Amino acid sequence: MRAIDRRATVKYGIPSILLMENAGRAVAEEVRKLKPRRVMLYCGSGNNGGDGFVAARHLANQGIRCLVVYFQAASAMKRDARLNFNILKKMRIPLLLWKRSMEAIRQKQLYSADALVDALFGTGLSREIGEPYASAIAEINGARKPVVSVDIPSGMDADTGKPMGACVRAARTVTLALPKRAFSRPSSRAWTGRVVVADISV
Ligand SMILES: NC(=O)c1ccc[n+]([C@@H]2O[C@H](COP(=O)([O-])OP(=O)(O)OC[C@H]3O[C@@H](n4cnc5c(N)ncnc54)[C@H](OP(=O)(O)O)[C@@H]3O)[C@@H](O)[C@H]2O)c1
Repeated sequence: MRAIDRRATVKYGIPSILLMENAGRAVAEEVRKLKPRRVMLYCGSGNNGGDGFVAARHLANQGIRCLVVYFQAASAMKRDARLNFNILKKMRIPLLLWKRSMEAIRQKQLYSADALVDALFGTGLSREIGEPYASAIAEINGARKPVVSVDIPSGMDADTGKPMGACVRAARTVTLALPKRAFSRPSSRAWTGRVVVADISV
């Protein structure tokens, strides 16, 4: 998938921000099918998180109340993700930096959320899940709300389908361009839920 993404952007000159826009819009469309009034989105600092920021923009534009939980990662937010994050700021969409001390606020918001979006990690997951992401995944799974994962449930190894320490249990996974190798394993379905393949124009 990474090679295909690279070809789309380098060989064919499709701007990566356009792929992110298509991905986020497809996620928003899938979330809308759940007819939520309030959505909480958990977004990491990579392009997967960027897809989540785009989805939040489209959901908010459609009158759905969104709260975006984002993370202060060791590495800075990726460029396209940062651009979309800044748009959310200008739109005054509520943004909440993940902090353990904010748990009470998040629990209150989770209680009234109708659906969650998991945009923590996609194909860029490169090691076992540690803190604070393990706590975030536990919070998502513990909320007992329908979860839509972006590309891959966060924590799943995209090749083997095995959780790398912890993994989001999604009701639906909007996977981008093509199903990931892991999804051919029947055991992965317990984590992905229904898999929807979204065309992002690669
Ligand atoms: N061209 C595009 O724009 C395009 C096209 C298709 C899909 N996508 C989307 O982009 C995703 C891939 O984006 P990406 O490559 O930026 O990867 P990502 O899945 O968004 O995750 C990458 C980030 O996660 C960090 N990370 C990896 N494993 C971690 C762990 N266990 N704990 C904490 N941090 C960890 C990495 O930081 P370190 O640097 O510290 O490792 C990196 O900042 C796809 O899944 C899809 O959602 C984008």
